[in-house]
Amino acid sequence: MKKYSLIFFILLSGCSFNQNKRSEEKIIIGFSQCTMIDEWRKTMVEEMQREISFYRNYNITFIVKDAHDDNNQQIKDIQDLVLQGIDLLLVSPNEAQQLTSTVEEVFDKGIPVIVIDRKISSSKYTAYIGADNLSIGNEAGYFASELLKGKGNILEITGLIGSTPAIERSKGFHEIIDKYPDIHTTKIIEGEWLEEKTMKITNSLFYAFTDFDLIFAHNDFMAYAASVSAKKHDIKTYIIGVDGLNTPKGGVNMVLEGFIDGTILYPTGGDKAIQLALDILTGKQYEKTINLSTYRIDKTNARTIWLQGEQVRAQQQKIDNQVSQLNTLSFSLRRQNTFLLLTNIIIILLIIIVFIIFISLRNKNRLNKVLDAMNKTIKMQNSIITKQRDDSMNLLIIAEEAKETKMRLFTDISHEFRSVVTLITNPINSLIASISDETVIKKLEIVQRSSERLERLSEEILKFRKIDENKYQLKFYSSNIAKFVLNLVKTFLQRAELKNIKLVTEIPQEIYAEFDTEVIEKVMCNLLSNAFKYTNEYGTIKVSVKLEDFKICIKVSDTGIGIPGNELPYLFNRFYKVSNSKYISGNKGTGIGLALSKELIQLHSGQINVYSYENQGTTFFVTIPQYHYIINRDQNVKSIEPTGVKLEHFQNQTKEKTVLVVEDNPDLLVVISDIIGKAYNVITAYNGKEGLLQTKTQSPDIIVSDILMPVMDGMQMCIEIKKNPSTCHIPVILLTALDSQETTIKCFNIGADTYITKPFNEFLLLSQIKNLIDSREKLKIAFYPSVFEKDIFKTKDLTDKEFINKCVDNIYENIENADFNLDNLGVNMNISRSSLYRKLRKISNLKPVDFIKKVRLNYAAKLLLTKNIPVNEIAWRSGFLDPKYFSKCFFQEFKCYPKNYSEVFQNKN
Ligand code: FRU
Repeated sequence: MKKYSLIFFILLSGCSFNQNKRSEEKIIIGFSQCTMIDEWRKTMVEEMQREISFYRNYNITFIVKDAHDDNNQQIKDIQDLVLQGIDLLLVSPNEAQQLTSTVEEVFDKGIPVIVIDRKISSSKYTAYIGADNLSIGNEAGYFASELLKGKGNILEITGLIGSTPAIERSKGFHEIIDKYPDIHTTKIIEGEWLEEKTMKITNSLFYAFTDFDLIFAHNDFMAYAASVSAKKHDIKTYIIGVDGLNTPKGGVNMVLEGFIDGTILYPTGGDKAIQLALDILTGKQYEKTINLSTYRIDKTNARTIWLQGEQVRAQQQKIDNQVSQLNTLSFSLRRQNTFLLLTNIIIILLIIIVFIIFISLRNKNRLNKVLDAMNKTIKMQNSIITKQRDDSMNLLIIAEEAKETKMRLFTDISHEFRSVVTLITNPINSLIASISDETVIKKLEIVQRSSERLERLSEEILKFRKIDENKYQLKFYSSNIAKFVLNLVKTFLQRAELKNIKLVTEIPQEIYAEFDTEVIEKVMCNLLSNAFKYTNEYGTIKVSVKLEDFKICIKVSDTGIGIPGNELPYLFNRFYKVSNSKYISGNKGTGIGLALSKELIQLHSGQINVYSYENQGTTFFVTIPQYHYIINRDQNVKSIEPTGVKLEHFQNQTKEKTVLVVEDNPDLLVVISDIIGKAYNVITAYNGKEGLLQTKTQSPDIIVSDILMPVMDGMQMCIEIKKNPSTCHIPVILLTALDSQETTIKCFNIGADTYITKPFNEFLLLSQIKNLIDSREKLKIAFYPSVFEKDIFKTKDLTDKEFINKCVDNIYENIENADFNLDNLGVNMNISRSSLYRKLRKISNLKPVDFIKKVRLNYAAKLLLTKNIPVNEIAWRSGFLDPKYFSKCFFQEFKCYPKNYSEVFQNKN
C-alpha cells in the first residue's frame, strides 16, 4: 500500500513542480527610457531582451516605457511601472535634476533601482552602470589635440545640458584641450543629443561661422548632422563623436564612410544591466557602480572593429534564431508539459482505477471464496431440500394418484349404480302406489329408501368428480330463495313430527336472489338431515334465512349432541367421519355430505361455517351472494317458480295435456311412460325420426326424449322440431345419460328447453314437465291477452287460432329484429302480403303493423315480469330501437310505463 502511495505522490508532485516553478519566480522588470528615438537606445533594449531570453528559468516580464525626451513623461512612466508591481526599475533619466526625486521615491519603496547611462543628482539608487563619461571627454580631448596638433578652433556640440553625460563629457574634454593655449573652443552649441536639432543649428551657424578646425559632438548622431551640414557649407574640419555604435548607421560605419574622423566608444551596456538586475533580484553580490570600458575608434581600427561587429552581429543573429527556436521549443515544451500534466492526471486516474479494481478483485476473490464456501453449503442444503421436495412430490403424486384412482373407481361404480337404481326405484314407486298391503308397502319402502340412498350417494360421488374436473356448471335461477328454502324445510315436517322434534323457521316471505337450486337444495337437505340425525327427541331445529348486504344468510341450528371441538377443523374434509361414539352408533355417515356441501357453496362463491358445543348443539351458517354479476345472465340465470311441488299436484290433474316420450330402451320407455302417465296423456316413439313424425301429426304439448338413439338421435330431432314454425313452440326435455357440461351446452344450443340427467328423479321430471307446460300457458295468457280475448276466443275457430299461433311464433322467432315486418312475416308464413293483411285484420281486428307491435309489447311485458333486465335492454330485445318510443307504446298498451309494470302486475294478481 505504501508503495502505491509513493508512486502516486511522485507523479502528483512532478505535475505540480512543473507548474509551480515558473510562477514562483515571476519577475517584473521595468525600464524607463528617456528616449527610444535613436539606434543607440534601440540597440540597448535589444541587448536587454536578448539577455533576458537567456534566463529561461525565470518568468521575467520586461516592460519598456519611452519618455520621448520628456522629463514629465518619464516621471509618469516610472510611477506607472511602480503601480504595475515591478520588482526592479531600470532607468536612464532624461535629465538628472528633474528625475531625481521620482527615482528616489522608487528606491525608498524598496524597489531596486539601476541607473543606466545617465545619472540622477543623488546616490539613492541601487546600482549604476555605464561608461565613465569624464574619461570619454578626456579621450575626446586627447584625440582632438592630436588631430589639431596643438592648434585650431573647436566647435563643441553638447548633449542635453541637464543630462550628466553631457556635463561629464564636456568637462573631461576641456580638462585636456584647455591645456593647449592655441586650441580654442570658439563655439559651443546644445544639440540635445539629437541629429535633427543639431542639423538645424549647424546649418544656420555655418552660414555665419565657418572657421572650425574640429567639431566635437557629444554623440555620433549629432556628429553626423554636423558632418552633413559642414559638407553642405564646404567646411573642411575634423569631426569627433561619441558612442561608436557598431551598426550600419552607427559611429564605426560613419568613420569608415568618412562622415566623421573618429568616435569614442560608449557601450550601451544592455546585457550587463540585465545581468546586474538579476544579480540584485536573486540576492547575488553586485557592484554599485559598473564602469563599462571605452576606447577610441578612428580610421586605423574602424575596419577591424566593424568586422568584429559583423561577427558579433552574426553571432547575435544565431543567438536570436536559437532563442526563437528555443521559444518555439519552449512553447511546444509548455504544450508538452500541459499534455504531460494531462497524461499524468490520466495515468494517476488509471492507476487509481486499476488500484480500485485490483482491491475490488482482491476483495471479490476473497468474497468469492467465502461465497463459494457458502454456495457449496447452500448447494448441499439445496440438494437435500430438492431430494426431500422430490420425495414429498412423489408422495404427493402417489397420494394424488391413489385419490384419483379411488375417485375414478367410485365414479365408475356410481355410474353403474345409477343405471341400476333407475330400474329399481321407479318400479318400486309404482308398486307402492298400486298395492294396499301395509306390510308389503313397509318392506317396499325400505327398499325404496335404500335405493334412494344409493342413488343419492352415487350422485354425490359424481358431483365430487365433476368439481374435481372443473366441470361442475352452476345454473343460476333468479327466484325467491326464501320461499325455496321454506318449501325444502316443509319436506322435513313429517320427519320432525315422527321424532318429536320442534322444527322452527324464521324465514321472510320473499328474498329474491340468483342461485343454483340444485346446490341450495343439496346443501339444505344435507344440513337438515344431519340436524335430524343428531338431535334427540324433543329437541329443536331452527332454520332462518335473511338478507344482509346483498348476501343471503341461511342458518341451520339444532340442540343436538354437538361435535367435539377438536373434530371441527376436519368436519368438511372428504370422507372424514367424526369419531364421537355418539355419532358412530347407529348413524354411520359417509363423510361425503358436508364436504360436498362446502365445495358446492364455495363454487357458489359462498361460505359455510360451523359452530358446535358438545351436548349443546350445532349451528351451520351458509352465506351466498345475492347476485352473480360475473355470469352471463342471459344464458345462466333463468326464472322459475319455486320448486317443492308435491306429487299430489300431478295426480290430481285431469289429463288434458299430451306428452311425447321418445326412448329407444324399452324398459326405460315403460318406466318413463308410467311416471308421466300418472299426470298426462302419453304417446311414445322409439327414435328421433319417429318422434318427429309423432310431433307433426299429434302436436303434443311437450316432448321428453332420450339423446342417444338409432336412426335419428334426440338432438337432431330437437333441431328439426325447433326449425319448423308449426312445432317450434313445443317444449323439449332431453334426457342425458351423462351429466356433462358439453352435453348441457349442446342441449341449450340446439333449442332444447331443458335437460334431465339419468337416472332422473320422478318428481323432478314431472315438475319440469309441469313447469314447462305451465310457463307456456302463462306465456300465452300473458302474451296474447288482448289479441285472443277480444277476437279469437269469440270465434273459437281452430283454423284461425292455429294461424294466429303460427304468426305469433314467427314474430317471436324474429323478435329482436326491429326490421321484421309484414313482408317478412308473409314470406315466412308462405302467404301473400295482401292475403296476410286481410287475414290478420279479420281475425285480430288489428292492422298487421299494430298486430306485430302488440306481440312485441306483450313479449316485453313478459320479460319485465320474469327477468331482471334493464328497460332499455328489454326494448332492444323486443325489437324497439328507441327506448322512449318503446315506453310510449308500452304505456298506450298497458296504461303504465315499463319500469312500473312488474309492480302494477303483481298488485293486480
Ligand atoms: C542616446 C544618447 C547617446 C549618448 C547617450 C548619453 O540617446 O544620446 O548617443 O551617448 O545618449 O546619455
